[in-house]
Amino acid sequence: MTTVLDTSPASIARAAECLRSGGLVAFPTETVYGLGAHALDVDAVRKVFAAKGRPPNDPLIVHVRDFEELRPLVRAGADLALAAHLAARFWPGPLTLVLPKALAVPGVVTAGLDTVAVRVPSHPVARALLHAAGLPIAAPSANLFSRTSPTRAEHVLQDLDGRIDFVIDGGPTDVGLESTVLDLSGDPPAVLRPGAVTCEMLREVLGRDPRSEARDPRSAIRDPQGAHRSPGMLETHYAPRTPLTVYEGLGALERLAADAMEAAFRGGRVGVLVPEEHALRLGGAALRVITLGPQGDAAAMAARLYAALREADASGVDVLFALGIERETGLGAALRDRLRRAAGGRIIRT
Ligand code: TXA
Ligand code: MG
Repeated sequence: MTTVLDTSPASIARAAECLRSGGLVAFPTETVYGLGAHALDVDAVRKVFAAKGRPPNDPLIVHVRDFEELRPLVRAGADLALAAHLAARFWPGPLTLVLPKALAVPGVVTAGLDTVAVRVPSHPVARALLHAAGLPIAAPSANLFSRTSPTRAEHVLQDLDGRIDFVIDGGPTDVGLESTVLDLSGDPPAVLRPGAVTCEMLREVLGRDPRSEARDPRSAIRDPQGAHRSPGMLETHYAPRTPLTVYEGLGALERLAADAMEAAFRGGRVGVLVPEEHALRLGGAALRVITLGPQGDAAAMAARLYAALREADASGVDVLFALGIERETGLGAALRDRLRRAAGGRIIRT
């Protein structure tokens, strides 16, 4: 059984003690819930992979209190000037930096890569836990491997109840999409995963555009050693159980509506995932309409996306049709990326 904790100091102390003794604690961050373990305890980190069913070639992000706590995790002598610059602007917050790793970081955390991913979360509960535990916390998203990330404690329990010691219930997360991953180990810096710290925001600090390595969901990237260069980019990530098709382009809504009605006519239980504005138009007995917030509000849509996908799974529909995200800038880029990945390549452009 997994114990649900509130966010009181006594509960945080209990969770911190569990981490220190090698246990697993799920906790809220500003992006999604993380599944935390003592980052320097090899056995604890192995338990994270086991609980999630995550393959060992998929590296974890290490969460720290502040920039000073990052230093011992990074290779001695590495140039941290740019990292410090980015940290001053975006930490605490939803930006993960990939840097050359120190020997102290176990290979199991980094999937054998010679780099380590680090971030300082801004969520008050995550910060309180880091302070109480007094150690770096390795934490992937607290979902079963290849499932959508949890944005509520109940999502964590849906996937991991009985497999982890505690989940701290801090309510729904704010951003709703995983952090931006920026690789600083090469030149120029490369965005491996788009997120709420947008390319436009990074450009302001970098003085140039970061390279984008968040490729098309149909092409998974692997590095020669077999560890994924950017595992979050695997097409099976972020997927609901229900087969999802995304419609993009001019006339996408009309095509979606026609396909959905036809599937319903043939006897399927059909769900549609659309911005609020279109809910009335598609509503009716034949379709199960799941809304994604107002179309113009990328932040609201991001905050709801994963909960909406889990709702679709729970509703028992056989198929789900979603209206695509057309915006390719700002948070829209991250939202578009995740929705396309959730579809695992089933994208129809009209
Ligand atoms: O917002 C987040 O980042 C959440 C919260 C809990 O902090 N965590 C999260 O972790 O999304 P996870 O394990 O689901 O995703 C980790 C991502 C992977 O997609 C991988 O590409 C990248 O971080 N990553 C980790 N270590 C890396 C490394 N050494 N080099 C390149 N990418 C790395
Ligand atoms: Mg994940």
